Amino acid sequence: MKIKVEAVDAYIPKNRVSNQDLAKKVDTSDEWIRSHTGIGARHIASEEETLSYMAAEAAKKVLAKSDTDPLDVDMIILSTITPDYSSTPSSSCIVQDLIGAKNAAAFDIKAACSGFVYGMEIARGLMMTGQYKKILVIGAEKMSSVLNWEDRSTCVLFGDAAGAVLLSPSGDESGLQDSILRAEGQGALALYQKAGGTRNPFHGEIEDKADLYLTMDGRAVYNFAVRVNVSILKELMERNRLSIDDVDWVVPHQANARIISAAAKRLNFPQEKFFMNLEEYANTSAASIPLALTQMEREGKLKRGQRILTVGFGAGLTYAGNYIIW
Ligand code: ACO
Repeated sequence: MKIKVEAVDAYIPKNRVSNQDLAKKVDTSDEWIRSHTGIGARHIASEEETLSYMAAEAAKKVLAKSDTDPLDVDMIILSTITPDYSSTPSSSCIVQDLIGAKNAAAFDIKAACSGFVYGMEIARGLMMTGQYKKILVIGAEKMSSVLNWEDRSTCVLFGDAAGAVLLSPSGDESGLQDSILRAEGQGALALYQKAGGTRNPFHGEIEDKADLYLTMDGRAVYNFAVRVNVSILKELMERNRLSIDDVDWVVPHQANARIISAAAKRLNFPQEKFFMNLEEYANTSAASIPLALTQMEREGKLKRGQRILTVGFGAGLTYAGNYIIW
């Protein structure tokens, strides 16, 4: 049995912050950000646009698009590293309430920028049991809330958004064909938030305020990202006997245009087959792939029957890929 994407959509906060806007607050420039990352802007959520609100808005759009009654949703899998609450409840439970999906099981997963790709494969496995017919997979992040806005090496890179898909049994050979999910835990501290968890609880006093925010070894993450983009795409293509010509689109996690270009070059893959929209939205972590798919659909680039490879990579360090016949 294959599972297919019935509908995809996204929620993007209205507040657009350009590189020039950012350069008024931190020591950076449009020129530096564009030349090092390809990013031109990001959208930043307001206080009212909580993580669960954005995720629920994206979910409502896919339910409306696919004409699905929220009561028919069997499960909500929400991937996020920026939940409403740090320990409990899970944000997926709040989303369940916001969209009125009373019959759905709900849980969060945490695989950072690979989270949406992980969520797709988890949904596929659960649907194979025959117990679940309609599963919402949501990737949502409010990265702005964990960024140190005084650290120019990280705050320029990220944005906020939510993207969602509704999955159901496909009835034919289209849909999710194969996935690879991996992690390299030895690199865990290359991208992390030191304080606030149970290892370093935060109860109002802290030696170094920077520990409350995301810190990153940018060069280590960059090298990892290029290496695993190449290995995941190669392995997915080999396993599924796909040539470069067979692949219509690669939809990579939208972290940095240089990472994506370097991977395409190493694979001898035409750059035009790698969809990119990070110039407008920056790195939205788990939301970036469904957000990219949404834009591709709006632009008429996504068609049924196309062969699509997704590739996610990020904190954890995690990496993963899906092969989908759309
Ligand atoms: N504006 C201006 N100058 C800057 C900025 C900025 N925003 N940020 C850093 N610089 C400076 C540095 O201070 C340094 O100056 P120095 O030479 O005087 O010391 C110089 O620019 C070069 O800094 P590097 O860190 O060496 O720059 P690099 O070319 O490596 O680019 C970057 C940095 C863009 C962060 C790159 O390493 C990268 O993209 N890494 C991957 C990051 C990533 O994608 N992370 C997300 C993973 S997804 C997830 O899981 C959440």
